[in-house]
Formats: sequence, C-alpha cells, structure tokens
Amino acid sequence: MEYQSVIEKDVIEGLSREFKNLPSKYFYDDEGSRLFQKIMHLEEYYLPRLEMEIIKNQSANIIQTINQPSVEILELGAGDGTKTVEFLDAISKTTTEFSYYPFDISQEALNINQSVVKKRLPNLKTRGVLGDYFQTLSEFRKKPTPKLVLYLGSNIGNLRFDEAISFVQHIWENLNVGDYLLIGVDLRKNPKKFWRHTMIHKA
Ligand SMILES: C[S@@+](CC[C@H](N)C(=O)[O-])C[C@H]1O[C@@H](n2cnc3c(N)ncnc32)[C@H](O)[C@@H]1O
Repeated sequence: MEYQSVIEKDVIEGLSREFKNLPSKYFYDDEGSRLFQKIMHLEEYYLPRLEMEIIKNQSANIIQTINQPSVEILELGAGDGTKTVEFLDAISKTTTEFSYYPFDISQEALNINQSVVKKRLPNLKTRGVLGDYFQTLSEFRKKPTPKLVLYLGSNIGNLRFDEAISFVQHIWENLNVGDYLLIGVDLRKNPKKFWRHTMIHKA
C-alpha cells in the first residue's frame, strides 16, 4: 500500500489493529502541550513530583557515575524542562562542562523549555531540537563529546511493547561507546489498588 503521508500510515495501521491505537506523539500539538502542562500539576498525577524528588536526591550520584570532564545532555521528549533544570543546576555546581539539547515534537514545549532553562542557567549552551526523535537523534551520532541521553517521565509507557523495543534499539544505534542512557520508568501497578490508595490518602 502507498501512503500519502506518515500520519495517514500511522492512522491506517493503528486503527487496523485488533487493539486500536494511535501514536501518542499526535497528542502534542501546541494545545496538547498546554494541556499536558496542566496535567502535570494535578494532585493525582504523582509522577512528576516523585521524579523531581529522585532528581533532587540523586543528581550528585548520577553525575559522579558519569565522571566525565564534559558531556552533551540530550533529552528525548523533553517537555517543559521543569524537572531537568534541577538536574542541570546540580551539574552546573560541579566541574563537569556540559551542554543541553532538548528534543521535542512540539514547538510550544520547546519554547517553554528554553525559557525555563535559560532563566535558571543563562550561560548554558542549549538548543531545542524540533521533530520526531526517531528522526532527529542521528544528528548527534558522530559528535565526539560523551553523551548522556535522558528519557524521563516514564514516557516509555506511552509506546507499545514493539515500539519500546525499537525505540531503545534506535537509541543504542545512536550511542557511541562510553555514552550513557538514563530512563525514568514508573512501576507497573494494579490500577484498582492504586486508586484505592489515592482515595484513602485524600480522605
Ligand atoms: C508525557 S510528556 C513528558 C515530558 C517530560 N519528559 C516530563 O517528564 O515531564 C511527553 C513529551 O514528549 C514529546 N514527544 C512525544 N512523542 C515524541 C516524538 N515522537 N518525538 C519527539 N517528542 C515527542 C511531547 O511533545 C511531550 O513534550
């Protein structure tokens, strides 16, 4: 079958499956990105709070593990960068030289990200990379500086199992020996149990 566009291909393939689905990247136009900003602040959306706590407590350990004089930080599906800026701030207090490249399919998300990051770290070398990270990551493949690729927010849970496998393979192919990948993954839990817990917590 000849497809006219990537969207047409994704829609036909996604809706022809037994369990119909569409790639989550289509959620993130400008309005979708603004909606996600609101979701991030909901009481019941615990993930950003907990990940922020991990970043605050573990940044020093992560930086120590990487142990490089300079590093390029590439964040896939970066969003607004509110959590990442804490991590970047922690690195800025060490002797590690670094630059930061947030990758996102949403220009709106990148605009917010860059204003958050530049406000906190005005001297940081940073540039947003707009587009589908399946396509844009290879731009950095040949760079000699060690890379740290971040994939936070349990975004991997938005991918189907086969997509998650090819996504990780894709990252692997774009890493050089000595590069790092840090993925934030939420634990799978029983939704009924978790919901009950939330209800008790709120009472
Ligand atoms: C759930 S949000 C998470 C944002 C951030 N990582 C966090 O943890 O708060 C997912 C982000 O990934 C971006 N995104 C989704 N699919 C993408 C793709 N295929 N390529 C680039 N960015 C993508 C969205 O625009 C959105 O900003």
